[in-house]
Amino acid sequence: MRTIYFDYNATTPLDERVREAMMPVLDQVWGNPSSVHHVGRQARALLDDFRERAALVLGCKPSEVIFTSGGTESVNLAILGTARLLRPKGRHIVTSAIEHHAVLHCCEYLVRNEGFNVTYLPVDREGLVSLEALESALRPDTMLVSIMAANNEIGTIQPIARIGALCHQRGIRFHTDAVQWFGKEPFDDVGSLNADLISVCAHKIHGPKGAGALCAASPLFPKPLLFGGAHENEHRAGTENLAGIAGLVTAMELFIPEPVFCREKLMPLAKRLIALVDRLEGVQLVGSRDSRLANTVSFVTEGSDSIALLAGLDLEGICASSGSACSAGSLEPSHVIRALGLGDEAANSLVRFSLGRESTHEEVALVEAVLPSVIERSQRLNKRPTPCE
Ligand SMILES: Cc1ncc(COP(=O)(O)O)c(C=O)c1O
Repeated sequence: MRTIYFDYNATTPLDERVREAMMPVLDQVWGNPSSVHHVGRQARALLDDFRERAALVLGCKPSEVIFTSGGTESVNLAILGTARLLRPKGRHIVTSAIEHHAVLHCCEYLVRNEGFNVTYLPVDREGLVSLEALESALRPDTMLVSIMAANNEIGTIQPIARIGALCHQRGIRFHTDAVQWFGKEPFDDVGSLNADLISVCAHKIHGPKGAGALCAASPLFPKPLLFGGAHENEHRAGTENLAGIAGLVTAMELFIPEPVFCREKLMPLAKRLIALVDRLEGVQLVGSRDSRLANTVSFVTEGSDSIALLAGLDLEGICASSGSACSAGSLEPSHVIRALGLGDEAANSLVRFSLGRESTHEEVALVEAVLPSVIERSQRLNKRPTPCE
């Protein structure tokens, strides 16, 4: 059976050039960048070089790049670290109801354990945050706003530059989780986003897992979360994952200035999937029709659920996704779909196709051929009475 991988928002395959950039670091420059001898100094020189190259892609100072273990850590550092830094200014954070759990769980932690208040902005039916709602949520004690650049489940793109400008007018720090946005949308430099803190991750843009960065505008650096050394200019302790950093920076250079998720290539494929979803009875496209990532097509289905649908697709060789898995390995209803106001049945039936560089019209044709029967089968199974009924 052939595999159709339509789950690029979950992760992407490692690019050959990225792998080639990582290999010499794994094999030859294996020193500890903190060691004073020449083996260590060689690794340190490389680390400094990678930091400069990352800063060049982002359009910031090298000292403003903090390498991390990935998107989750970048977001945690931005939110927990900034909350703790700016606690004397206030204890109010504004975010949206459709953020990734990396953001939401940090906010919940701060509320439960550190006396912060959080306002969760609602979104409209398309998943868009309103600037008016943001403006009225801001308070004198608001010290941080965190709004994602693009949503991982439904692909809605937020007006980040305008949100950032509003925060800056009010003297409030602004973080954007741009993990799903980099490499998918045109990008000039961090200045154009009006964000003080920007989370980046390698494995969504054909880089390795376990590597990311937080771009933090000086001089207000988040308080560190990890202690035990002066690494990363004292912002993040721990011996650096130099091979991962080599992969991250190479992926950033190759795939951010010229987005690897090419809109011109992906739009026709996505349009076919959207047309398919629109044709099917009881199936509804979710997200925005205008302000959306070109690679993401998500839908909900009446009388079915995500597990049955994903299993049915998988039997046909098609890898798709839904909301997030909970710790027991089953699927939680999507908080994003709930926030769109579509109800619990819809939240339990989300399916996301996320396309990428290797996706083809032939693959879309296969999905067109099998999706109606996969949906029908799952609806039939859903209707079957349980033995106790
Ligand atoms: C929007 C968003 N933020 C953060 C993350 C977490 O990134 P990582 O997998 O690198 O920890 C993800 C991953 O799916 C994401 O989609």
